Amino acid sequence: MEAFEALSLGADHRSITILDQSQLPNRMVYHTATTLEEMTEAIRSLRVRGAPAIGIYAGYCVYVLAQQLSQTCQDIMSIQKQLIHMGEVLIAARPTAVNLPWAVKRMLQKASVCTSVPQLLSCLGEECVTIHQEDMEMCLKISEYGLSLLKEGDGVLTHCNAGPLATSRYGTGQGPFHLAAERGFPLHVYADETRPLLQGARLTAWELKRAGVDVTLICDNMASMVMREGRIQACFVGCDRVAANGDVANKIGTSGVAILAKHYGIPFYVLGPTSTIDLSCPDGEHIPIELRDPEEIRSLWYQEPMAPQDVPCLNPAFDVTDHSLITAIITEKGICRPPFTQSLASLF
Ligand code: MRU
Repeated sequence: MEAFEALSLGADHRSITILDQSQLPNRMVYHTATTLEEMTEAIRSLRVRGAPAIGIYAGYCVYVLAQQLSQTCQDIMSIQKQLIHMGEVLIAARPTAVNLPWAVKRMLQKASVCTSVPQLLSCLGEECVTIHQEDMEMCLKISEYGLSLLKEGDGVLTHCNAGPLATSRYGTGQGPFHLAAERGFPLHVYADETRPLLQGARLTAWELKRAGVDVTLICDNMASMVMREGRIQACFVGCDRVAANGDVANKIGTSGVAILAKHYGIPFYVLGPTSTIDLSCPDGEHIPIELRDPEEIRSLWYQEPMAPQDVPCLNPAFDVTDHSLITAIITEKGICRPPFTQSLASLF
């Protein structure tokens, strides 16, 4: 099986290379970005995607951009100012996952206290690696907590991709499945294909099969049936932004899974790092939802369009799952249960 490296820097630290997720599972190709434009394009077109992975990528991008600026400028204040502008451009690439602004602001905060260019490069170089390492540790802790909620032989339904590709190691929403595979803990995972961009079919099924997890791919509209048949004992999903009251934005279709789980009396768990919790956002109404190109619905995956060319399409990339549908939110710091306003606040 071909191994892959999800992210690496060029030898001179003036470029960043990622495994291009938009090409999976058919092609393992790498994408190198050197300009701000190429970096934002990589985020927008989902070459790199998944809330924690976007944050990690953006952190490295700020460092790479600082390296480039230092080639032509030794004025620390000028570089700091340019980095603030570049950070805003990176943040604007995708609006929903809060990990993106979280990581960029963390890098800019480091940059703001530096007094020389060599110090700035050294601080930023360390900080992006720290963000990456923290993510690896976070994934393991979340996976441990998540697995503690399952029994051997359980069937688990998941939506979108919240595995290693979307993070740095095991993943969040799907981290427990990877940890279970390592430990020989039997589970049966049902992966929603996740229309319209098929992260479940293209990425989750690919990752879980490679990891040796017993996985069955279903169309999104089959979730109700597999739940009714008693095949599902828990639902595990990732998250892009958690509001202070426990409302959760995640891939479009997640809230439908949660509603079905409630109907069938199945626990619905959201797994994500504390960097995905946005206490400044009171509830789901305040989470910005990304609207994407209607062509992703009409024609993207087909040899010929599957809808009339001029039919209006609504293509929100995320939806909000109401906190009342969520059994628990699992973070690297522990398992939060309702009332989420208190349990989430106590993490900080
Ligand atoms: O549009 P995407 O593919 O970036 O959406 C990703 C998701 O919705 C994931 O579930 C979420 O980011 C959590 S990833 C650990």
